[in-house]
Amino acid sequence: MNAAEIIALKAQALAEARDATSPQDIEAIRVRYLGRKGALPAIMKSLKDADPVERSEMGKQANLFRQELSSALESKASESESGDTVRTPSRMDTSLPGQWPSRGSRHPISIVIDDITAIFRSMGFTVADGPDIDSEHNNFDALNTPGDHPSRDAHDTFYLDNGDLLRTQTSTVQVRVMESTPPPIRIIAPGRCYRRDTSDATHSANFHQVEGLYVDRKVSLADLKGDITYFAHRLMGPGVQVRFRPHFFPFTEPSVEYDFSCHICKGSGCRVCKNSGWIEISGAGMVDPRVFENVGYDAEAFTGYAFGMGVERIAMIKYGIQDIRHLYDNDVRFLSQFS
Ligand code: DAH
Repeated sequence: MNAAEIIALKAQALAEARDATSPQDIEAIRVRYLGRKGALPAIMKSLKDADPVERSEMGKQANLFRQELSSALESKASESESGDTVRTPSRMDTSLPGQWPSRGSRHPISIVIDDITAIFRSMGFTVADGPDIDSEHNNFDALNTPGDHPSRDAHDTFYLDNGDLLRTQTSTVQVRVMESTPPPIRIIAPGRCYRRDTSDATHSANFHQVEGLYVDRKVSLADLKGDITYFAHRLMGPGVQVRFRPHFFPFTEPSVEYDFSCHICKGSGCRVCKNSGWIEISGAGMVDPRVFENVGYDAEAFTGYAFGMGVERIAMIKYGIQDIRHLYDNDVRFLSQFS
């Protein structure tokens, strides 16, 4: 046997190894070529009788033969151990089900804000925006809130070192819009608010409101009641009832608080509505003429209504969520229910 013949025999052995379909095949090839009575030991033995010129080349090829065949058989064996079928030329089994990334879903707060926005847009409102960090002027002064009003207290409001604050209400956007836009206007403003509340099942230091403001000639309290009631029916379904209770806010006169009948118990009384059958949504009223004066509107010619609404509260009654903290825990088992 010369070096060329060894190379040819190696090619044959490697081809057999490639075509092996079972562990038994692999073992048979090993025995045939590498085993004690196999072809390679025979070649090694024949070297001593070989032509001295050929001998070193034959020895080199014989060693390559052993190395390449050993590693081919080894990788074939590990292939069959790992469960890949030895017969499959590629390692990919296209019949196995794929691995899909799990799909996310919108957060319930975002869903409710989008729903509220869509309804008010259909009623002719546009969406206005304002920053979370705002001035004392926009959050309190321009809204006719007296300097000693308890809501200004540092116990209730997060102040920054420069005198600005984290807005406690989206009513700041009313001021921003009126100071920059002449009447008539009809806007809503969804956004985050901050108060120094200790969190419990119904309170959070960080929550969302949607503010509304409609200013024109001859806007009346009847418009406010009609629009809020229409909105409630669109959002919660025609069965919902709305009630308005007299209240006080520095920036509206008269002021009301408004409630929706409890969506969960349909008004008969349950834990979420604390057995009252009603859920407080937020406040509203006719814009106080002082606020118009503060922003440079003609308080004789124009009237307007304003309202706020608590987004978390609406999400809780709409979806029957018993604890506001679920909305911020970001537990995917909770969140995936809204997909
Ligand atoms: N800003 C009030 C709050 O956070 C809610 C509110 C009451 C908004 C009356 C208004 C309004 O626009 O007219 O409690």
